[in-house]
Amino acid sequence: MTSGAVSSNVLDDPRGDVFRVQRHAFTSPEVFAAERERIFERCWIYLGHDSEVAEPGDFRMRELGARRLLFVRGKDRLVRAFYNSCTHRGAEVCRERAGNANSFQCFYHGWTFANDGRLIGVPGDEAYGPGFSRESLALPQVPRLEQYRGFWFVCFDRNAVPLVEYLAGAVEYLDLVADQGESGMEIVGGTQSYAIHANWKLLVENSYDGYHAQITHARYMKWLASSGAVSMPKGKLANVARDLGNGHAVVEYAAPWGRPIAHWVPSFGAAAEPEIAAIRARLESRLGPERAARIASSSRNLGIFPNLVINDIMAITVRTFHPLAPGRMNVEAWSLAPCGEAVEHRKHRLENFLTFLGPAGFATPDDIEALEACQRGYHANPEAWNDLSREVGFEKPTVTGEHQMRVFWRRWLAQLEPSHGKLAEVRRVAAR
Ligand code: FES
Ligand code: FE
Repeated sequence: MTSGAVSSNVLDDPRGDVFRVQRHAFTSPEVFAAERERIFERCWIYLGHDSEVAEPGDFRMRELGARRLLFVRGKDRLVRAFYNSCTHRGAEVCRERAGNANSFQCFYHGWTFANDGRLIGVPGDEAYGPGFSRESLALPQVPRLEQYRGFWFVCFDRNAVPLVEYLAGAVEYLDLVADQGESGMEIVGGTQSYAIHANWKLLVENSYDGYHAQITHARYMKWLASSGAVSMPKGKLANVARDLGNGHAVVEYAAPWGRPIAHWVPSFGAAAEPEIAAIRARLESRLGPERAARIASSSRNLGIFPNLVINDIMAITVRTFHPLAPGRMNVEAWSLAPCGEAVEHRKHRLENFLTFLGPAGFATPDDIEALEACQRGYHANPEAWNDLSREVGFEKPTVTGEHQMRVFWRRWLAQLEPSHGKLAEVRRVAAR
């Protein structure tokens, strides 16, 4: 691909109040190949949450695009990420999605690997010469694996900056999630797993796009209003979109649905009020009144470049997605919750998670339809440009603008074209 091919996909002209993206960015096989190489092979990519491999031997198989990885806690309690490919002749050594195992036996010729990666079994090993070394045939680990507050990421670029540096201002928002559990946070239940016939960047845009909410999700808003489960918190209401550095962005806002951790949760009903007041009081004593109020009274949609979204809204959703082709992605989403949460609260949380985001919920099916409609629209008129100019130049951009998407697109362009002048600038934005 020529260097001009990517930069010609984004028009960023703040003086003209214009920001546009050419639709080839969503449909081109060349752009897709460049993204694989320069984004997904170089950035820190979310792998999973610590709680998913809580015990020695716990494992999850994760698909990061074409790369299938084993996310495992060894019997030495260390967490590792292996390529799921046998060192004999390459078959997958694990074909289960999740479980607990002391070892993994490849089903092809029976080589066996301990859950720390050591090769511990080779049928018929008398047939090998003295140069055959089990040590050198251990399961290889990915080059980099680091975690922040229980969120594990991998990176295939050995020379990448440390994870915390990469996360930049996003750590403040991961803290706001991780701090909610008095004794930690955990992924609850199963995985929402689905495919969308649309480009992966459409889901990035959609995940913090407040502009579409009242229109696309009109049914949900009407249902909320008719259910009586609507109330706005009092005081100064957040409504802000922030650049967190390195392509990460967040929108923070008050919303008319209940938050399971807040004192303000009408959908939980009057009976839950004393318990919720107690949660709030404990939150205040642990974190101080200001931080407790921020956690309890506002919602946040956080996008960590390139493909992790954490929506801390009526439940906490951790969502990641991987492109399989320019017009297709696989999505996986999980509900994250405080450890030790009361059974009734957990039930409400999961109901909220499913009502809005479930496969038959109010939001996800409508969002999927919107994204697929965009992808079809790009094929209908491929030469046209998308406009993302809402609130260009605003000093205080809001959740219904497109500042957060421009933050993503600028980083996207810098990643694909490191020499692209000011757009290649990597900024660490101090948390405000
Ligand atoms: Fe795994 Fe042969 S490919 S044992
Ligand atoms: Fe939506």
